Amino acid sequence: MSTTLTPASDLDPADLRTAFGAFPTGIVALAAVSDAAPIVLVASSFAVGVSQEPPLVMFAVQRTSTTWPTLRELPALGVSVLGETHTDVIRQLSAKDKSQRFAGVSTTVLPSGALLLDDAPVHFECAVESSHVAGDHDIVVLRVTGLANDHSKQPIVFHRSSFARLSA
Ligand SMILES: Cc1cc2nc3c(=O)[nH]c(=O)nc-3n(C[C@H](O)[C@H](O)[C@H](O)COP(=O)(O)O)c2cc1C
Repeated sequence: MSTTLTPASDLDPADLRTAFGAFPTGIVALAAVSDAAPIVLVASSFAVGVSQEPPLVMFAVQRTSTTWPTLRELPALGVSVLGETHTDVIRQLSAKDKSQRFAGVSTTVLPSGALLLDDAPVHFECAVESSHVAGDHDIVVLRVTGLANDHSKQPIVFHRSSFARLSA
């Protein structure tokens, strides 16, 4: 079998999006309270396994994001790995209209100001460690300052623009 690769210089952006979308990921909500208001950024680019000592995670944020400039200035961010009960609110949490992002979403605020979405399989409390320009995104490294595992909750999987469950 032979595979013909398209050179990057000839790439159709739609093919690139299709290729990126074929890679299954989890989804997280990065959230905190700023001036008494909850703010959130949904990201499928989140990755663990960056470093265990110190514990580091990362994600990539669009340089056009209007939420990240506020979130990145805060001392602590909550990172909630979204679970099966969150499927219906993912689009809402990432909607352009920020006023309704948390409508009907159950959350907990930590003393640090980090905001957690309830019923997540994993919660991290993080602080921004570093940020690196990467094309039209920034790669952001976060230091984990606290975490909680809930083995009774299943994460959802983002694949080809759809949300899938790990088991039927
Ligand atoms: C499933 C899903 C995954 C997303 N992943 C990312 C991501 O990894 N990085 C990112 O910057 N935006 C991501 N977005 C878009 C943001 O959640 C948000 O809609 C975008 O940043 C615009 O809102 P803002 O101006 O408030 O930041 C994702 C949206 C969805 C629905």
